[in-house]
Amino acid sequence: MEMPTNTKFPDTLESIPDTVSNQSRNRLLALLSNGELTSGTVLGERLNISRAAVHKHVQALMRQGVPIHRVPGRGYRLSQYVQLLDSTLIRGGLDADITNQLSHITVLQQVDSTNNWLLKRQSQSGIHGHVCAAEAQSKGRGRRGHDWVASPYRNVMFSVGWEFAAWPESVTGLGLAASVAVVRALHRLSVTGVGIKWPNDLIIGDAKLGGILIDVNGESAGRCISVLGIGINVQLAGSDAGLIDQPYTDLNAVTGMVTDRNQLIALCCSEITRMLGRFGALGFQAFRAEWERMHVYTGRRVRLVGHRGEVRGLVSGASEFGALLVVDDNGHTHRFLSGDVRLRLEQ
Ligand code: BTN
Repeated sequence: MEMPTNTKFPDTLESIPDTVSNQSRNRLLALLSNGELTSGTVLGERLNISRAAVHKHVQALMRQGVPIHRVPGRGYRLSQYVQLLDSTLIRGGLDADITNQLSHITVLQQVDSTNNWLLKRQSQSGIHGHVCAAEAQSKGRGRRGHDWVASPYRNVMFSVGWEFAAWPESVTGLGLAASVAVVRALHRLSVTGVGIKWPNDLIIGDAKLGGILIDVNGESAGRCISVLGIGINVQLAGSDAGLIDQPYTDLNAVTGMVTDRNQLIALCCSEITRMLGRFGALGFQAFRAEWERMHVYTGRRVRLVGHRGEVRGLVSGASEFGALLVVDDNGHTHRFLSGDVRLRLEQ
């Protein structure tokens, strides 16, 4: 959306519409990233907002952990390099055969949840092939109704909208296939040691690196609209890490390098899009063997606890629909289709 050049935006962020604050923050960060001190007045003129609004944006960005340095009376600058998400760079990093399968790549500075954003948009227009990535989520959602904690401007949070002509036989299977796609993308970035913990947690050792949340919508007898949300820890800030209630890790810590977030999203989008085409034609079956190889508990003794009790046994693999197969000590095979079970390794 183009803004008329003579518009002065209101001073309070609360009254600034989302699209405007997204645009202003993006441009503000771009202006601050040259390392020079720039005064609030100059920034306001460039952004066509008041100096007070500049100050409010700066405060909001600093609260999100963006390292902005303020010299009273002189202005602001970024005190550290911050790589911003950029839709052109993401598109440019897609595999050649994928580019025309992704209709839109939208980068937002702030949103409640990238999954929600696509789901809302779906009621107005199609979201097939639409990618939405965000620098910050105020209500990021994890599986099983949990919140998803991620550090703004440091992590990777994005969703891909995809429409299937008919409902997949199993949505769990779609989640499992998505985790295979993301691990493939991480391998292409030379990240080693990443595994999957059923159903679709991405882990290194026993620490969580990322996760996948799938939402589906549509008529039961017709097309299925899916939103695949991916969260990957790239560089968790200490303040956010304290909010996570399980062992966690992040890519920069594991690799000892600074991850290029645009490249990571592009690789994930390429692998996910390729997976979606294949999944639509062949279902989870096409990913089953690879998922079983990547699943860190295959062949291991586990304990599954759910509201129907507890099962102990050996993980033998996944069914053709993505159910976890566990063989108990009596040789009986139990199937778990996600839902409310907790999976633990038996020590
Ligand atoms: C999990 O609990 O393991 C799933 C986490 C999924 C988080 C991602 S971040 C992008 C997308 N938007 C959300 O609100 N959630 C997913």
